[in-house]
Amino acid sequence: MSYPFSKSFEAHTLKNWAGRSKINNVERYLLSKYFEDNQASVLDAGTGAGILPFHLEQERGFKNITAFDIIPQMIEIAKSKAVQKQSNINFLISDASDLKGIESNQFGYLCYTQQILSMVPKNRLKPALQEAHRVGKKDCTLIASFLDWNSRWYNPILNFNTNAARFIQGKPLQNKYLPEVNFNGKLNWKFYSKEQHPLLWAKKSEVINLLHNCGFKIKSFYTEEDLTNKKGYAFYFVCTKDNVE
Ligand SMILES: C[S@@+](CC[C@H](N)C(=O)[O-])C[C@H]1O[C@@H](n2cnc3c(N)ncnc32)[C@H](O)[C@@H]1O
Repeated sequence: MSYPFSKSFEAHTLKNWAGRSKINNVERYLLSKYFEDNQASVLDAGTGAGILPFHLEQERGFKNITAFDIIPQMIEIAKSKAVQKQSNINFLISDASDLKGIESNQFGYLCYTQQILSMVPKNRLKPALQEAHRVGKKDCTLIASFLDWNSRWYNPILNFNTNAARFIQGKPLQNKYLPEVNFNGKLNWKFYSKEQHPLLWAKKSEVINLLHNCGFKIKSFYTEEDLTNKKGYAFYFVCTKDNVE
């Protein structure tokens, strides 16, 4: 699979995510509610520098954790933190849409939070969820988050403008895949540049179809606002495999 990011988007992702020091309240809530059994095996997808698996290992006592990211430098940073923390987490460089080397049916819990699934290019999204399904145990729990198309009134306008720019640049049009508007609270002046990596802003109904098509059964759904009482931009699905009664 070809590497999806430009050098500048990779640097931007490292700058914004490698230094993250705490999980947020939504993650804390969902992990404590749905990842109850610390004897189960966990897969953390798009782990960045491993903030979430370090939380599960150190604060929750999980012992069998695998975590992967597509950016090699993220995994280097995660591994050096693992040495400092004397951690046993298995950090891997891998692409969510092609989990080569990860055996089938082995994880009790699958965590696909933050923007991992929104960052996966459109033609690789279904393979990414099929891979999650393949590596999850029969009774696994998946937590998957997406950016919510309906959470920003101006998404249709941005979508139209971005596609007009793509048309002029001779690039393929992509519906609901938008570059970031703000970087660290500042306007992204390079919004229309070719270097940008567009993120999927999905509709709930589309994600429901996708999850069903990939063999998942939905147990719960939350918007960020449901969990924080503040306006947010993400929604979360909690799923099992649909072969579970
Ligand atoms: C928004 S960051 C979140 C990082 C981490 N989960 C956290 O909460 O700090 C999303 C991560 O997903 C990774 N990612 C994006 N596409 C990926 C893919 N196809 N396979 C694996 N990781 C991917 C990015 O490299 C990035 O580190």
